[in-house]
Amino acid sequence: TRAVIFDTDPGQDDAVAILAALASPELDVLGISTVAGNIPLDLTTKNALKLVELAGRTDVPVHAGCDRPLGRALVTAEHVHGETGLDGPDLPEPATKPGAAHGADFIIETVRARETGTVTLLTLGPLTNVALAFAKAPDIVKRLGGLVMMGGGCFEGGNITPAAEFNVYVDPEAAAMVFRSGVPVTVLPLDVTHQMLSTPERIDAFRALGNKAGAAVAAMLSFSERFDVAKYGSAGAPLHDPCVTAFALEPGIFQGRPVNVEVETGSPLTRGMTVTDYWGVSGRPKNAFWVRSGDSDRFFALLTERIGRLP
Ligand code: BDR
Ligand code: CA
Repeated sequence: TRAVIFDTDPGQDDAVAILAALASPELDVLGISTVAGNIPLDLTTKNALKLVELAGRTDVPVHAGCDRPLGRALVTAEHVHGETGLDGPDLPEPATKPGAAHGADFIIETVRARETGTVTLLTLGPLTNVALAFAKAPDIVKRLGGLVMMGGGCFEGGNITPAAEFNVYVDPEAAAMVFRSGVPVTVLPLDVTHQMLSTPERIDAFRALGNKAGAAVAAMLSFSERFDVAKYGSAGAPLHDPCVTAFALEPGIFQGRPVNVEVETGSPLTRGMTVTDYWGVSGRPKNAFWVRSGDSDRFFALLTERIGRLP
């Protein structure tokens, strides 16, 4: 098994990513740190608690992290995810509480407590907590086994602005710091997530599982559909964050290559753009593995099978 920590702003697609991981014996989910992003921090934390309860995995601690980006005002996305961030299913109010430690401190302590190279960070939101953890405890950069993130875009452009993907846009300074840190980064950008469309048939397959989690996932995806299908004119909405879990479980689903990535932090026009040197024209050192494509049928089959293992 591989030990992982999720850093997340759930979010329907974050939710599917986390639920699939909690159902997977290959992954030992050490905990979940929450960050402000899709919605404010109190809601991302509440949603994370709802998810561990839905999965019957209250052994997995949830720790609230940063309530805003390092140096900017928070930008949220209720227009996509609804007022709760997890609109769609009717999940009970959580009965459990978050842990006392700040999310960034939870990351630091957990990584330090384990053998070097054995913990992987899986990030599904703005990178604020991770950047704070790296700033407070630079030693953990070398202790991490790697970081797999959903964020950025190259060939597909942006989704919150023409240039920028939401997670990087919200806290570009944090993302820039992560790319410069030296941690081995794998990026699941819009280039690949836009290939993973939750079509009506794929949503029906979750519902047909007949369990609570399958019904919840189907309701979540039907909700996020509304906005994205109108926006992209596609047969279904891109399912972003579960690409991180799928990559951790079955990297063979995906194709990519090592590249240099730098993040634009200065320009108001292109704030949060991931400048990705896919063709190696800059001569800058390769600092990330950039995933460009993936097999969407295998991706949805994997997710559906895993969600089917939950209550
Ligand atoms: C990312 O932004 C959020 O809205 C989603 O949860 C995902 O992490 C996609 O750009
Ligand atoms: Ca997210």
